[in-house]
Amino acid sequence: MLATPLLDRLAACGFVVAHDLLPPALAARLAADCRALQQAGDLRPAHVGRGSQRLRERALRGDSIRWIEPDPAVPARAELLGRLDALRVALNRHLLLGLADIELHYAVYPAGAGYVRHRDRFRDDDARTVSFTAYLNPHWSAEDGGWLRLHVAGGPVDVLPALGTCTLFLSAEVEHEVLPARRERMSIAGWFRRYRELPLS
Ligand code: OGA
Ligand code: MN
Repeated sequence: MLATPLLDRLAACGFVVAHDLLPPALAARLAADCRALQQAGDLRPAHVGRGSQRLRERALRGDSIRWIEPDPAVPARAELLGRLDALRVALNRHLLLGLADIELHYAVYPAGAGYVRHRDRFRDDDARTVSFTAYLNPHWSAEDGGWLRLHVAGGPVDVLPALGTCTLFLSAEVEHEVLPARRERMSIAGWFRRYRELPLS
């Protein structure tokens, strides 16, 4: 069962850094999956915003991404999705968030690339409610950089993107950025989305 202290901290602080959400062995299998997609040429340069706001601007955001979809040939994805669904249910039970689903992508930032300070909620769509990140980089140390910087009350919090480290934060509130790394940096970013009322037609 999921540790409720984690959920209490998320509710109290708007963010939490977790080292026990993703077992290192599973993180390593996900890293291999991401690497295989990269080698197959299945990652695409990421965009900023969406619709008419959609921009491709390497100076704002330097990663290449691939949405994570279930694939029977890749059990690690099903394990990740299963764990995150259990987390979704726990978030709903403890924090009454009404989260309906999660969208997730792999991201690879080449050395020197980052993502400028931003919030994850779109201007025209408020479904994204809780952001999730997970890091897939073995043997990563402070000199490698690539920190996730969370701009939270009380000053910035920097998270080293080392294998197995995860974060959760409130998508509408927490501004954050990816600082450039000295070597290639792999992550998973995802968003728990809440139920929307469908317009009557
Ligand atoms: C994002 C993001 C953070 C990271 O994709 O929106 O903020 O550390 N990613 O990969
Ligand atoms: Mn973000």
